[in-house]
Amino acid sequence: MSNQANSTQVNDSNPRHIAVIMDGNGRWALNKGNQRSDGHRAGSEAVRNLVSGALDLQIPYITIYAFSTENWSRPKMEVDFLFRLLAHFIEKELAELKEKGVRVRFIGRRDRISKSMVAQMEKMERETITNTKLSLTLAIDYGGRDEIHRAVDRMLEVRTVAEGSCSSADLHDFLDAPELPDPDLVIRTSGEMRLSNFLIYQAAYAELWFTEEYWPDFTQKTLARAIADYQKRHRRFGKIK
Ligand code: FPP
Repeated sequence: MSNQANSTQVNDSNPRHIAVIMDGNGRWALNKGNQRSDGHRAGSEAVRNLVSGALDLQIPYITIYAFSTENWSRPKMEVDFLFRLLAHFIEKELAELKEKGVRVRFIGRRDRISKSMVAQMEKMERETITNTKLSLTLAIDYGGRDEIHRAVDRMLEVRTVAEGSCSSADLHDFLDAPELPDPDLVIRTSGEMRLSNFLIYQAAYAELWFTEEYWPDFTQKTLARAIADYQKRHRRFGKIK
């Protein structure tokens, strides 16, 4: 571990909200001569490293991209496997997350996934609602453009044209989780350098951090490295200083 990573600790200059694009499960597995599903399984274990790291460093908000609106076009077998894994994750991790003070939320569409899965998600949200140590948001059947389209639809349902034009604050209120602060830092693993439709509205001023590591290899040290680099960035939000 580098000195920088060693020195990362609870700090005022830590990001409040980190969003993570967990990429590279498939390549991680294929490189080892294994099935893509093994990569996803190892990827779900790496989520535990992220959560432990966030708790240790007192990062209050984490959002992870678990299944995108575009992921439906993967082979049915892989889609089914990913949903089984998510269901298993919810079942297996609920007690520990509850005990550690983690509040879980889900963003994304709920009209295209099974009723039993939605019931499990709602149970997890209900049972962790009073937790305050870490807010963990899972994006499932989530796409940033889809979220904006749904927000506009909902806004038009409650507003009449006579009420005039829409401000960004108005639109923000209709996003999936308007109570969350915008992400300060977006991490993407596997060497790809794009947002892939993740939080495209909220990440307008986020710092972006990329690593060649595949998601299953993500550890608390990776998180510490990302935060150490973030602390060296100079955020101007469009202003001069
Ligand atoms: C990207 O890897 C990852 C996904 C599409 C899904 C993310 C899912 C997990 C990390 C596991 C399940 C998560 C939870 C919370 C239980 P990829 O398949 O696109 O990898 P590749 O680019 O190498 O093909």
